[in-house]
Amino acid sequence: MSNQTKIRTAVIGLGWPGMQHLKGYIACDRSEVIAVCDLDEKRCEEVVQEYGIPIFFTDHRKMLENGEIDAVSVCLPNFLHAAISIDALNAGKHVLCEKPPACTAQEAQAMADAAEKNKKKLMYAVVQRFSGSAQLLKKMIDNGELGEIYFGKAGYVRRRGIPIGREGWFVDKSKSGGGALIDIGVHALDCVWWLMGAPKPVAILGAAYSKFGHLVPKDIKYDVDDATFAQIRFENGATIVLEATWSINLPGGGYVQLAGTKGGAQLNPLTIYTEENGEEINKTPDAPSVNSFDEETKHFVDCILDGSEPISSASQGVTLMQMLDGIYESSEKKREVQL
Ligand SMILES: NC(=O)c1ccc[n+]([C@@H]2O[C@H](COP(=O)([O-])OP(=O)(O)OC[C@H]3O[C@@H](n4cnc5c(N)ncnc54)[C@H](O)[C@@H]3O)[C@@H](O)[C@H]2O)c1
Repeated sequence: MSNQTKIRTAVIGLGWPGMQHLKGYIACDRSEVIAVCDLDEKRCEEVVQEYGIPIFFTDHRKMLENGEIDAVSVCLPNFLHAAISIDALNAGKHVLCEKPPACTAQEAQAMADAAEKNKKKLMYAVVQRFSGSAQLLKKMIDNGELGEIYFGKAGYVRRRGIPIGREGWFVDKSKSGGGALIDIGVHALDCVWWLMGAPKPVAILGAAYSKFGHLVPKDIKYDVDDATFAQIRFENGATIVLEATWSINLPGGGYVQLAGTKGGAQLNPLTIYTEENGEEINKTPDAPSVNSFDEETKHFVDCILDGSEPISSASQGVTLMQMLDGIYESSEKKREVQL
């Protein structure tokens, strides 16, 4: 990569997230989009025309034979993340894969192994880490401004909002790996866990419920959770409490909160809770307003060109999936599980 100044990218899967990746690469002056791929030929035609992309493919294997492409975004239904990311890594491409990393930790491990074997970057697109307030808060935490962070609380709560997706893949466990937890809980968990320094999980208590299948059409298979709650304990003594719902008879909303020995914080909007001389004070700094998807793709491109490790790395993807697997396992076994 030493003399290369631009990464030649391609996007596989042109749904909403795929389009955010595409726009991010276009906005990045260190990348150039040279191809897109989707099973839907008409969709490919529309996208190449609108964005002036040189070529499109309807078969990812054909696209991966193209030696010009350095890196690909995998923006496909969850059950394709591992197989197609591994194909891309084996074809010598760097991979930015959408969340969740995979359907299971075992799949995420196979992806990490393929990245290592081929000496290519594998980054996970966990976009909440890239907001201006999350980036600023992470710097404050790493500077020790909140002291020791011993508790985190995060939720992604929809009162009503069960996604179905093309051919119902979101609500079919064999294609999604799970429901609300793996789809949106992953955002909340990843963000709070990363802010806490990505400690090693040791024990998990989880409860997953599936109570709203009657809201989806009868001909669609529905065997996933629509509300999941968990507590995770870490080797360093810290804990996280998590909730994720697609449907619940309570108010919706999203939050990430952290408690430290010197101060606490929450995101959206960034608020710092601290005190001076026994008085509560507001020391909340102004967070920059950025496009999180643009920041995410830029980080991936920078890591490739600069030879640095992505902040959402292949190994973190494995641990994240171990936590999600652990929550489902704990729920099934109706007891705490050790990792
Ligand atoms: N980061 C975010 O905020 C965010 C938001 C939504 C979805 N996602 C994630 O992005 C991924 C895709 O979600 P989506 O909502 O776009 O799904 P989707 O089903 O709407 O679209 C996926 C696209 O991939 C195409 N596709 C399917 N199989 C393909 C194959 N074998 N080869 C090429 N193209 C193929 C489909 O034709 C479709 O255009 C999921 O993993 C989801 O969890 C992330």
